Amino acid sequence: MINNISSFKQLEKKIKNNIFSKVFILCDSNTLKYCVPELFNQVPILTSSEIIEVNPGEESKSFEICLNIWTTFLEQTADKKTLLINLGGGVVCDLGAFCASLYKRGIQFVNIPTSMLAMIDAAIGGKNGINLTHFKNSLGTINQATSIIIHDLFLKTLPKIELKNGLVEAYKIALIADKLFWKKLTSNNLSVKQIIKKSISLKLKIVSEDPTEKGLRKILNFGHTIGHALESVFIKNEQKIMHGEAVYMGMIIETHISFQKKLISNIKFQDITKTLLSCLNFTLLKIELQKLKPYLLNDKKNFDHKIQMVLLKDYGKAGFDYAVSLNEIEEAIIYYNNIAIGK
Ligand code: GLY
Repeated sequence: MINNISSFKQLEKKIKNNIFSKVFILCDSNTLKYCVPELFNQVPILTSSEIIEVNPGEESKSFEICLNIWTTFLEQTADKKTLLINLGGGVVCDLGAFCASLYKRGIQFVNIPTSMLAMIDAAIGGKNGINLTHFKNSLGTINQATSIIIHDLFLKTLPKIELKNGLVEAYKIALIADKLFWKKLTSNNLSVKQIIKKSISLKLKIVSEDPTEKGLRKILNFGHTIGHALESVFIKNEQKIMHGEAVYMGMIIETHISFQKKLISNIKFQDITKTLLSCLNFTLLKIELQKLKPYLLNDKKNFDHKIQMVLLKDYGKAGFDYAVSLNEIEEAIIYYNNIAIGK
C-alpha cells in the first residue's frame, strides 16, 4: 500500500539531519501570504529555505513557468540532494512535482496541500503535470512524492468556495468507489475532517492497486473527460472556472451517458443527478459541444481513435474504457443545458 502521508515533525527531523543540501519552497502569492507563515511556525528551520513564487491559477502550469523554476534551481546551484516543498493547491502541487521530477532526472519533493481539493486529490497519488497550450495536463509524469503533509490548519485560510470546490472530488470518489460513503456524504452526516480522511484513504487504496494507471486508477477520472475539456476552453478566458466546478458539470453529463448506455437505471440516474444538483449547487454554465470537441478528441484516456470514458455502474461502482460517440455526448449536453436553463 502506498502511504507517504507524513507530518511536520518528520519533515523537521529530516531537515535537521542534513539529508538535503538545499530546500526550496514553491508557493503562489496567496500561499506566500497566508500559508508560509503557518509553515514557518510548524517547522521553524524552514525560514532559511529559498522561496519561489508563482502567480495563482491554472496559467502557471506552463512550460515558461517551469523554465523559470529550473533556471532558479541552476542559478542557486541546486543539486540532486535538493528538496522542493510544494505549498499550495492543485496548481502548485502539479507544477512543483513536475519540475522536481524532471530536474536532474528527479529531486525529492514534499507536497503540502493547502486546499481541500489538493488534500484529497491533486497532492496524492504521484500524478503531476502542466498544460500544453490550452490542453490540460498534457505533459506530466507519475512520480510519488517523498512525503505529503496534510493539515487542516490551512483550510482556515481559504474562501468558502474553495471548500465546495474540494467537496466535488469527495463526491466523485464516493460515487465511484464507496456506496456507504456516498450515502453519508449526501445526507450531510460527516465533518470536513472525516470527509478528507475517508477520501484520502479511498484514493490511496485505488492508487496502490494501480499506481501507473494501467486500468483501475482510470476510474478516478470520472467527470474529468468533460471537466478537463471545459477547463481547457476556459484557460485563457476572462471568466474563470474552478476544477471542482468543471468536474461537477462533467459528472452530470457523464452520469447521463452512463444511463444512455444502460449501465445505470433511470431511477439511479435521476437520483444521482438530483443529489449532485442539490448538494453542490454550482451555477451551471451553458455548454457547446463544438468548443469542447478538440479537447475531447485529445483526452489522455483515449485510444483506438475513440473517446474513452469512465462511466458509472452503480452507487460506489464505476467502469473504464467505455468508447463514447460524439452523438452520445451531444445528447447528454442537450439534457444538461435544459437543466441549466431551468435552474
Ligand atoms: N486525479 C486523478 C488521479 O490521481 O489519478
